[in-house]
Amino acid sequence: MTKYMKSKLIDSYGRIAKKLRVSVTDKCNMRCGYCMPKNNTKWFDSTEVLTFEEIVRLSSIFANLGVDKIRLTGGEPLLRPSIENLIKSIANIQHIKNIGLTTNGLLLLDKVEALKSSGLDSVNISLDSFNEQRFRTITGINGLNKVLSSIQKAKDAGIDVKLNTVVVRGWNDDEVVEFANFARCTGITVRFIEFMPLDGTGIWRSDLVFSKKEMVEKIESKFGKIFAVSEQEISAPAKLYSFSDRVGTIGFIPSVTEPFCNQCDRIRLTSDGKFLTCLFDNPGYEIKSFLRGGASDEEISQYLVRYMTMKQEGVVSLIRINGLKPKLNLMHTIGG
Ligand code: GTP
Ligand code: 5AD
Ligand code: SF4
Repeated sequence: MTKYMKSKLIDSYGRIAKKLRVSVTDKCNMRCGYCMPKNNTKWFDSTEVLTFEEIVRLSSIFANLGVDKIRLTGGEPLLRPSIENLIKSIANIQHIKNIGLTTNGLLLLDKVEALKSSGLDSVNISLDSFNEQRFRTITGINGLNKVLSSIQKAKDAGIDVKLNTVVVRGWNDDEVVEFANFARCTGITVRFIEFMPLDGTGIWRSDLVFSKKEMVEKIESKFGKIFAVSEQEISAPAKLYSFSDRVGTIGFIPSVTEPFCNQCDRIRLTSDGKFLTCLFDNPGYEIKSFLRGGASDEEISQYLVRYMTMKQEGVVSLIRINGLKPKLNLMHTIGG
């Protein structure tokens, strides 16, 4: 009989944390305009960044508190040398059922086999344009073909691949139909993401948010009515849809216009060792000092459980008071 792990990470709204997102580095090899400060040279000092051993120790503490899914993020997680070794260690943690990675795809091509054999289950790849020039404008890098090849290779290797497309008004909203078509032609799920005010660039404005409603209108005007997929995880940020012929799946992550905080089952660890109970926690709770100061697993667990009880309602409460503004948090230090 599999041992059932009782969840201990419960907030005051009754939400239970099951998914941990671990940012393994704040560094990135792209400069997406909705995320990374333009001329950023202010990275965490390497001594501040959690070692693999520290990440594994914390992951197993979280697993004992009820976490069963871990997603590695960045910055760009593949910038961390030998990340496959970290994945192997996490895969060996009791109760962890699924390990994912969110990447910009630039370094993925040569890593696919190593990642697959390390025990990685899924990879979410960011792609915002099929146009080379525009890809460069958005990311600051000439990398479209590399990313497209990585997507294909990861899929061929049998890893579950999804695309993440942040839609910004005037940048790439005219490509929504093309992305939906890509989902239909390849069988790869494309998730359209509303632009959140987590931009290091300070450019976020509410009128740049291209809403889920607007995306659906565009897609339906080309493909006809889309339908919510009946079997889907209620707590997932992406609401999944298919087409009348059932060919292809697309999703929407409508954090701004239809926030889903009431179903949140996610918590985060930053690469410099802070615990975030919400994407919008700023600055979060310092954990590294306990880790490096000789605290026992039991003591660290007690801190985590206590911080969890202080989890705020989420972005939904900011929206309610019209409190969205640029740079509410730095996406590249949190990992989404
Ligand atoms: P799956 O496990 O494959 O469903 O991954 P995911 O969609 O949860 O993670 P991913 O790293 O691919 O993130 C996709 C988008 O969802 C990013 O823009 C994240 O910032 C956003 N996202 C993930 N979790 C949350 C959340 O709890 N709240 C909000 N508002 N957005 C989130
Ligand atoms: N709003 C929404 N999504 C964002 N991402 C990065 N910055 C933002 C933002 N400001 C996405 C990336 C990546 C995921 C981790 O978060 O495209 O796919
Ligand atoms: Fe782009 Fe992600 Fe890097 Fe931000 S962290 S610049 S979204 S790849």
